[in-house]
Amino acid sequence: MAKLFPNVSQLTDLIKLQIIMSKVTVVGAGNVGATVANVLAHKDIVKEIVLLDLKGDFAKGKALDTWQQAPIDSYSTTITGTDNYKHTKNSDIVVITAGIPRKPGMSRDDLISTNAKIVGMVTKSIMKYSKNPIIIVVSNPLDVMTYAAYKASGLKANRVFGMAGILDTARYRAFLATELNVSPKDLSAVLMGGHGDTMVPLPRYTTVAGIPVTELIEKDKLNAIVQRTKKGGGELVGLMGTSAWYAPGAAAAQMVESIVKDDNRIFPCCAWLSGQYGLKNMFLGVPVKLGKNGINQLIELKLNKSEMKNLHKSADAVRGVLNNYKKMKI
Ligand code: NAI
Ligand code: 2OP
Repeated sequence: MAKLFPNVSQLTDLIKLQIIMSKVTVVGAGNVGATVANVLAHKDIVKEIVLLDLKGDFAKGKALDTWQQAPIDSYSTTITGTDNYKHTKNSDIVVITAGIPRKPGMSRDDLISTNAKIVGMVTKSIMKYSKNPIIIVVSNPLDVMTYAAYKASGLKANRVFGMAGILDTARYRAFLATELNVSPKDLSAVLMGGHGDTMVPLPRYTTVAGIPVTELIEKDKLNAIVQRTKKGGGELVGLMGTSAWYAPGAAAAQMVESIVKDDNRIFPCCAWLSGQYGLKNMFLGVPVKLGKNGINQLIELKLNKSEMKNLHKSADAVRGVLNNYKKMKI
């Protein structure tokens, strides 16, 4: 007789099926966007990736190149390139990387008027074809572009957030791994605030395989790493003439993975604040749980006085850029 209820292995298959049903659109097929798509395809956790760029043939080429890598690296996620938003229809998750990157001598904030127009237009076009997507913003200046996408989308705040904290924390962890001669895998850390030179790495929340980092490194060395982290993006712009893409692309793909698998992993993300940490009506980097609804929970740490002071300083810097953006009435 046929069983009415699925057994455990059938249930697992059903869950897996649900996982691979996801469609992800990445807007912007440049350095970061193409990397997000490539890293995500390698994870083999979504059914379909659409890579969209103003330059349609460029997006098609990047997508085809990644698809031709599938037989070699063994993944099934399909990937197509386009310049037409109709191909983004019913996207579950959208990653926005469209915009111009920094050149040497520019701050992320210098990108504001160009990228705000792009992010606003991209978000509206996405919303024409997808009812309730989760949007992850990557374009800079990150905290303000996330605000722009939030306003243009009309989505709930748990469904729109930005990628920066995973990248900035990864830089901090990588520098520490080099200094301590340990595997970066064992470094765990929290970093908060805006995606700029005022970001707040938190040594008190940094451990190496569970050991507080402060027990393993001298204060001045740790301070030097904190300072290097704050300028980590600029260091790469100086070296390459444009901003980074491998770590940023992997960071955005890691956010998508936690959402698709409903993993509830805790990452620092650029999230809407409505009173947490004494801040409201703005996006800023804070630790959150990422799962199927986007931000499933915003975590409020018990910061000490000086950590809180630094967070508020960073919030002031972001608010300054946000006010400039609002004055532009884009
Ligand atoms: P890129 O120049 O390599 O790629 C940007 C792509 O966006 C180009 O292919 C361009 O054709 C496309 N584009 C421009 N306007 C568009 C529109 N209206 N619709 C569709 N596509 C459009 O730049 P890259 O290096 O990929 O950086 C992208 C953005 O990400 C920059 O704003 C950069 O500052 C930011 N970024 C943010 C990071 C973060 O941590 N949040 C880290 C690294 C970069
Ligand atoms: C980065 O941090 C520029 O936001 C970019 O690499």
